[in-house]
Amino acid sequence: MSALPDVVEGDGVRLRPFHLDDLAATATACADPLTQRFISGVPSPYTEADARSWITEGAPAARAAGGVAYAVADPATGRLLGCVGLSNPVPARTQAEIGYWVTPAARGRGVATAATRALATAAFAHGTARLELLTRAENAASQRVALAAGFHPEGVRRAASPDRSGGGRHDLLCWVRLADDPPGPTTRALPDLPDGRLTDGVVTLRRLAPDDAELMFRLHTRPEVVANQAPPVPPTREAVQRRCRDAESNWLTGDIARLLIVDAATGEPAGSCGLSITDASAGEGSVGYALLPAWRGRGHATRAVRLLAGWAFGPAGLARLTAGTVPENSASHRVLERVGFHREGLLVGRLPGPAGTRLDDLVFALLPTGLR
Ligand SMILES: CC(C)(COP(=O)(O)OP(=O)(O)OC[C@H]1O[C@@H](n2cnc3c(N)ncnc32)[C@H](O)[C@@H]1OP(=O)(O)O)[C@@H](O)C(=O)NCCC(=O)NCCS
Repeated sequence: MSALPDVVEGDGVRLRPFHLDDLAATATACADPLTQRFISGVPSPYTEADARSWITEGAPAARAAGGVAYAVADPATGRLLGCVGLSNPVPARTQAEIGYWVTPAARGRGVATAATRALATAAFAHGTARLELLTRAENAASQRVALAAGFHPEGVRRAASPDRSGGGRHDLLCWVRLADDPPGPTTRALPDLPDGRLTDGVVTLRRLAPDDAELMFRLHTRPEVVANQAPPVPPTREAVQRRCRDAESNWLTGDIARLLIVDAATGEPAGSCGLSITDASAGEGSVGYALLPAWRGRGHATRAVRLLAGWAFGPAGLARLTAGTVPENSASHRVLERVGFHREGLLVGRLPGPAGTRLDDLVFALLPTGLR
């Protein structure tokens, strides 16, 4: 890995050394709550003295340690827009870690994506073979930058980072781009919903969000909802909060799309549904759904599954959907049949049940041609 140049040009951004004119903008960006939350090494609280020490000592020291820390500047005005750098180099593996922040005023217009692309291209040209990018699960904006810059989700680094408050540790998601990977954007298994929602005028589906946690806890701890999941054990409040908090991340990594079912007329939440990719190479996904009691018996579940299936076969490009059900759950079977699913088979003892028992799984399946 040979030394990177002092200046790297990108699309609408220039990567250059930090200088003291960047002091005020650096102090503002690093004191910003998002930067404080998501970049663990940034001093807290952050003062102008910290910015001065970063510009005069911290950033130059990154090079001495085998990495680099560039100021991301507007090429027309020279104004500071952010920072992008390489750290934790592993020379034996020709690998490094890429990281960035953007000043609050410059966010949401492609600065981080352009800077990450430019630095990745330069690093690969100077002998790096593999770049890692580590994000918190809650940091969807950063995960979108990773995807836009050609990085692929590689998994979870469990307890990879100490909490700022001390004591605890948290997981980091690992995103990777190799020197011969295309520059991006990375194709996602689960694209965003058009305008953030799917609707047939009666029912609207939208991505589950952190604020849905209490409602989801109420729904998924109902005895009849628990009885229809495997194993039939109610989730903890923390598990449901995590599920809602990580819904955008799980969607971005292509693991599962979790959606809220909303009654379109009243805007009231009626239940939830989800689509998980069960076999990516075969183009197969699986759907699940549950409604709050007040919304049952009105065709909302059928409408929700129909909308979800149409999206799965359309924008998500799946070729086959399945749904596993408890053999006695005839209301659920009726929903699936109304959408066009057919009974495919009884998988005996497929699922874990209570006290070491096993449960049968009655599987339904749908091909695009069968969707009603
Ligand atoms: C993460 C961060 C660097 C993004 O910078 P940015 O210049 O706004 O990013 P871009 O404009 O290149 O946007 C890239 C994507 O993020 C999305 N995005 C931007 N802000 C978002 C937000 N608040 N929530 C969700 N997505 C967001 C954009 O829509 C875009 O997605 P798309 O490619 O799917 O359209 C910036 O929010 C930041 O400085 N955060 C604090 C520090 C940080 O988190 N650093 C990364 C640590 S891993």
